[in-house]
Amino acid sequence: MHLDLHGKHALVCGASQGIGLAAAQELASLGATCILMARNAERLEAAVATLPGEGHRYLVADFTDGDAVAAKASEAAKLAPITLLVNNTGGPAGGPAHAADPAAYLAAFSQHLICNQRIVQAALPGMRSAGEGRIVNVISTSVKQPLDGLGVSNTVRGAVANWAKTLANELGPDGITVNNVLPGATRTSRLSQIAEAKSAKTGMSAEAVLEGMAQAVPLRRLGESHEIGAAIAFLCSPAAAYISGINLPVDGGRTRCL
Ligand SMILES: NC(=O)c1ccc[n+]([C@@H]2O[C@H](COP(=O)([O-])OP(=O)(O)OC[C@H]3O[C@@H](n4cnc5c(N)ncnc54)[C@H](OP(=O)(O)O)[C@@H]3O)[C@@H](O)[C@H]2O)c1
Repeated sequence: MHLDLHGKHALVCGASQGIGLAAAQELASLGATCILMARNAERLEAAVATLPGEGHRYLVADFTDGDAVAAKASEAAKLAPITLLVNNTGGPAGGPAHAADPAAYLAAFSQHLICNQRIVQAALPGMRSAGEGRIVNVISTSVKQPLDGLGVSNTVRGAVANWAKTLANELGPDGITVNNVLPGATRTSRLSQIAEAKSAKTGMSAEAVLEGMAQAVPLRRLGESHEIGAAIAFLCSPAAAYISGINLPVDGGRTRCL
């Protein structure tokens, strides 16, 4: 199987930890040169140091500031044409949809969909001139089955999924694939925060909350970030050249529909 990414340049967002960092590690292990983007410079520097190979770097940007994100994405695109793009950022706060402040929807829409759009627009000229590109968006299984207590997240993930499917139709003729990876319950600090919030609400321990999540998965365990990273890297690889416009759940079978 052709998985080699030597000579390719990747921009991986939300990559100072968790799923984004795991994606960068998998891409780098296949030979890609990575630029990591997130807010925390110290964590980014440490993250870059974990990547195999040479030439990796990081850029600091906060996805609550769309102009800054667009500027950094353009800076990245000037360093080398980005042909592999992983759109990822922190998940919105939990809570039921009906109780959410309307401003929380606007903020999530801006942080997820609008920032993705601005980064794609920065990367697109390079992808087009290279005649190839891979865009992978990290979203959630909630696009198939809404998750209780994640109202804003469920809503904005649906928007990103349909944006991505539309892009796949539009950009296919340029040799660019666009796909979504849908992580299930994956052991990262995001999941710990969700477990702590549920623990505070129910009185259950966070460990018991996580165990309950694991028991709801047919494989009876939580996912590991490298398992999501591997799926992202596969979709970026030459082996996945004919896969475009899909939602790929990586959830141990948890989603109860196809
Ligand atoms: N873990 C799960 O079980 C799970 C399941 C389904 C979906 N997801 C989704 O997958 C995505 C990644 O999740 P994760 O579990 O890897 O989360 P995580 O461990 O909390 O990592 C989030 C990453 O995004 C960065 N980030 C957060 N807010 C940012 C902002 N405003 N601007 C720029 N970067 C920002 C963080 O870095 P800095 O703090 O340095 O900025 C970090 O690198 C999230 O959207 C999450 O909701 C996760």
